[in-house]
Amino acid sequence: MLFYFSATGNTRQVALWIAERLGERAVDIETISGAYSYRLDKDERLGFAFPVYFGTVPSIVADFLGRLHVEVESGYYGYIITTSGPAPANAVGQMRHLMLKHGLTLNAAFSVKTIDTFLPFFTLPDGAERARLESETEVQAKFAAEQIADRTRTSLRKDIFERMTTRFESPIYYVARKTRAFCVSDACTGCGLCASHCPSHAIELSDETHKPKWVRAECMLCLRCLHHCPHEAIDYGRWTRGKSRYREAWGSVSKTET
Ligand SMILES: Cc1cc2nc3c(=O)[nH]c(=O)nc-3n(C[C@H](O)[C@H](O)[C@H](O)COP(=O)(O)O)c2cc1C
Repeated sequence: MLFYFSATGNTRQVALWIAERLGERAVDIETISGAYSYRLDKDERLGFAFPVYFGTVPSIVADFLGRLHVEVESGYYGYIITTSGPAPANAVGQMRHLMLKHGLTLNAAFSVKTIDTFLPFFTLPDGAERARLESETEVQAKFAAEQIADRTRTSLRKDIFERMTTRFESPIYYVARKTRAFCVSDACTGCGLCASHCPSHAIELSDETHKPKWVRAECMLCLRCLHHCPHEAIDYGRWTRGKSRYREAWGSVSKTET
């Protein structure tokens, strides 16, 4: 079983490749509400895939671990796959700690490089560069799938990059999660898709205008709302203005399309 979270499609695609190679299920944790029990079959692996956010585990994943109860008969192989952009980031130490806290074993961690969806800092590549990066993602994901199939164990020690990201990026994330930078243009029709598809239920719609308002305490800054707004009406201050959105990741229509 591979549980995954994906705000904008990269991790979902990686999870699907891995599940296909292993012949095991990949389940989107957004489809699971409340407490969840899962019985691992004999020889079944247990995996978690998620994007790294400023060197940390997204809160939706940490929350899910607290609601998950895994029944096992004997030992099993536990692994994680993180996706991230160009900044080396894996959050292995944090995830290992979270899993241990909930009685789960971690034997291996794999990191897959993807297109970076954090639009305030980056611009999405297009054409040949996008194709090159997607192909790199596919190669890395399929290589990880082979290692997972072989139940390869990896080092779980925090490397120098994780130490640095935990030290410097996590505080940046805390500060950066300011939702007041979100704004909507006149193109907003008040359709409410951003609110209904927000993975952390962090968007409320104004009673009068039906326009979105972001709740800082809940928002992970995953930017699904911004990337998937059908009218491209959402911006994160001036940092995202005029930049193209990540709507059709992997050539498929995203799950949040109308
Ligand atoms: C809030 C946020 C923070 C991010 N932080 C990092 C980071 O620290 N290092 C990095 O390489 N990529 C970072 N990224 C890029 C994502 O991890 C990467 O694009 C990921 O594949 C997105 O996965 P998804 O499409 O499944 O949601 C960040 C993206 C977001 C939205």
